[in-house]
Amino acid sequence: QKFVRDPAAKQLQEYAAKHEDDEKSITTNFGNPIGYKDASLTVGYHGPTLLQDVMLLDELSHFTKERNPERVVHAKGSGAFGYFEVTHDITKYTAAKPFMEIGKKTPIAMRFSTVAGERGYPDTVRDVRGFAIKFYTEDGIWDIVGNNTPVFFVKDAAVFASFIHVMKRNPVTNLRPDYDMFWDFCSLRPETTHQTFITFSDRGIPRSYRHMHGYGSHTYGFVNGDGKFHWVKYHFRTNQGIKNILSQEAQQIAGEDPDYHTRDLYNAIAKGDFPSWDFYIQVMTPEQAAKSAYDPFDLSKVWLFADYPLIPVGRIVLNKNSSNYYAEIEQLAMDVAHLIPGIDISPDRMLQARMFAYRDTHQYRLGPNYSQLSVNMAYEVHNFNRDGYGTIYSQGGAPNYHPNSFEGPENDKRALALTPVIPLQGEAKRIDSGNDDNYTQARLLYQRVLNDEERERLAENLVDWLKRTASPIQKRAIETMFDPVDKTLGDKLRRALFPNEEFHIEY
Ligand code: HEM
Repeated sequence: QKFVRDPAAKQLQEYAAKHEDDEKSITTNFGNPIGYKDASLTVGYHGPTLLQDVMLLDELSHFTKERNPERVVHAKGSGAFGYFEVTHDITKYTAAKPFMEIGKKTPIAMRFSTVAGERGYPDTVRDVRGFAIKFYTEDGIWDIVGNNTPVFFVKDAAVFASFIHVMKRNPVTNLRPDYDMFWDFCSLRPETTHQTFITFSDRGIPRSYRHMHGYGSHTYGFVNGDGKFHWVKYHFRTNQGIKNILSQEAQQIAGEDPDYHTRDLYNAIAKGDFPSWDFYIQVMTPEQAAKSAYDPFDLSKVWLFADYPLIPVGRIVLNKNSSNYYAEIEQLAMDVAHLIPGIDISPDRMLQARMFAYRDTHQYRLGPNYSQLSVNMAYEVHNFNRDGYGTIYSQGGAPNYHPNSFEGPENDKRALALTPVIPLQGEAKRIDSGNDDNYTQARLLYQRVLNDEERERLAENLVDWLKRTASPIQKRAIETMFDPVDKTLGDKLRRALFPNEEFHIEY
């Protein structure tokens, strides 16, 4: 049987075809031609290698630094480039430049990822997927750093690191998942329930990055040209259709082709089958937010479509693969704090903390001048920051302090006009939000959105993870996460996990 080689497999053949007539010499990193590449400079056949072998020093000293720290979360991923195009006028909600006219196109970079595994981890595991978009706008970089789910497991950054720890490796055994850690935490913090239902449903393993929706997840603020403010949520709906992989097939693929999603995205774009998503927003006025039945800034909850329908905005299309994964995708620095005039944040406790975390981690992962890497660079940067490792751009001799009398950059009146004025008052104290109705929306999903077969598979997927944890934790998870959503589900899990115990029929 003939093996069909896809575009990803033929990358080098394609390179060779394009460069058939090139005549290039090998050089050092500094462009010095190399006379003979494949032998070290030694004294005789068995003699020691000479320190003056500049070619070898050049190559080895670069090789030993080929890796930087991987992303602490979302380490495994892939990405591509394309554009955002406006199809509908939403200028009554925002004055942000990418939305200014129908037909306007803004270049984008996108990165998809799994959350918990490391850089080499299989793609087809049960996990949330990252869905991050960088817009290269006239007002600088704007990033939407969301997921393929509209909600998240936790809603206060004070428990975020703990949640990530229970998804990652046990620090003693170095194994993951550690089912005790995961179910212990989730059952003690039942705000994880809604996202657990989504992650253990069929959507927990998408068929590809192309076959899933994306969400900004958090609530953001929009300011229009008259200074009027609205709350918004972002939705990206796949034009490839939702497709998922069932658990057994996903496990098989994870063994056969751990890079299944990476390969799929690369090949689709290389073949000209450009993936696209329609961009929608949900909009809530501040008055509606004040009266909302659910907390509009709670990341464990959605805004119901019946209350806040989807409003079409435009589409995003990916039409170009990266020319080097490391330079253009690994070094992408997505950050929710990259905002442009007309777009603001909300009091969501997770989003507030994310304002700090990304810049902080990028400086560690990519160095202090990561904003000067070409994939992260804005069209124009004028400020008073200079120097540090890797400085490339020095702002053409402009003054590095403000105020100054030497024609340095000045305040932007439009940006000031579009900055919302937020009246605030309250007592500074730690209020645990972990018990604010954790079940109503999970129940809607379980009882109204999923069909019988999907409900059955959800229960099987839950049992598959729950059966690996200690029984007191199993019992607590059923009691704090599944009984309160739907007693029949709780009982089904009991019957599967404790077939010899009678207590399930007491209810
Ligand atoms: C990546 C922190 C919540 C989506 C990251 C990274 C950090 C981080 C440190 C690595 C970034 C890098 O090295 O480039 C946090 C913190 C959170 C939080 C502290 C909460 C307090 C969330 C939430 C979402 C999300 C709620 C989705 C709604 C992502 C995505 C990436 C990421 C998609 C990968 C971006 C890329 O592809 O480069 N996060 N995160 N994070 N995070 Fe978060």
